[in-house]
Amino acid sequence: MAAITEATYKASSDYLISKLPEDFHTVKLGVICGSGLGGLVDTIDPTTKVEFLYKDIPGFVASTVVGHAGKLVFGHLGESRTPTVFMVGRYHFYEGYTMLQCTFPVRVMALMGIQYLIVTNAAGGLSSDHKVGDLMIINDHFSMPGMVGNNPLVGHNFDSFGTRFPAVSDAYTYALRKLAFKAAFEVGIKTEDIREGVYAMVSGPSFETRAEARYLATIGADAVGMSTVPEVVIARHAGIKVLGISLITNDVVRARGKDAKLEVLQEMGLSTEVDPEEDTEKSFANHAEVLETSAMRSNDLQRLVTRFTDLLAESTKEN
Ligand code: HPA
Repeated sequence: MAAITEATYKASSDYLISKLPEDFHTVKLGVICGSGLGGLVDTIDPTTKVEFLYKDIPGFVASTVVGHAGKLVFGHLGESRTPTVFMVGRYHFYEGYTMLQCTFPVRVMALMGIQYLIVTNAAGGLSSDHKVGDLMIINDHFSMPGMVGNNPLVGHNFDSFGTRFPAVSDAYTYALRKLAFKAAFEVGIKTEDIREGVYAMVSGPSFETRAEARYLATIGADAVGMSTVPEVVIARHAGIKVLGISLITNDVVRARGKDAKLEVLQEMGLSTEVDPEEDTEKSFANHAEVLETSAMRSNDLQRLVTRFTDLLAESTKEN
């Protein structure tokens, strides 16, 4: 594949603009729909919606994961009819794409004028505060791949998008997090079902080991997933404000598991000690569970995103 240059992004946005009605030549908001959360595009006005399959857009590669349709959808979101571009299905690093390929659409969206990006994902819960089905507004992240060299900004800096060394200390804009909570409470999401937290990105595709899960929880991660961070870094590099939302689809197993030595000693009558981990055997994360929980909660998330968009439209009108 030819190297991605500024011209590759431009060719992609030029193609989209050439096919789109004028209404969508500039879009204000981008939304990346995570696993099983693409239903959001079914709630937008069908009469003005325009869809492109990734495979038809120059520069986009075809996405492979079940539950990820792989299309870019333009439409009017909410009562504010905010011109929005949705990625239904994203690119993951574990699919074998480079970080630049994974984040390609974000820069195309940047060229099309987005000022705000909502990133959603399915994630495993690491904090005992979380339960399956909870929503987590992301307030910070760990990039496990990024910390060891897989940061999407490694390599040539595209100066037209942003600076060589962008700050990401406040990657998830505080004002947007507040608006998200306001939207959530207005649409009836219970306070105990939504909280803030730190998202850790791992490359996947294998889920975490118990030891890795304990490590992530110890360093301060509340949820873990295989996406989001590269897109957020590229968005922040381009000055786009970000709201990140995780849906906790499963509980990550952190317990050490049974003690083999102790069990043998018990069987041989040499120990009466009780194994503290005996009752902590649990089923592990699996993709079916992730999709099932997303489907169950996708309605709430859709209503939250729609209301958030209207609140954002109101707040930006005032300023
Ligand atoms: N680990 C990593 N990624 C995930 C998980 C998980 O438990 N659940 C959903 N995505």
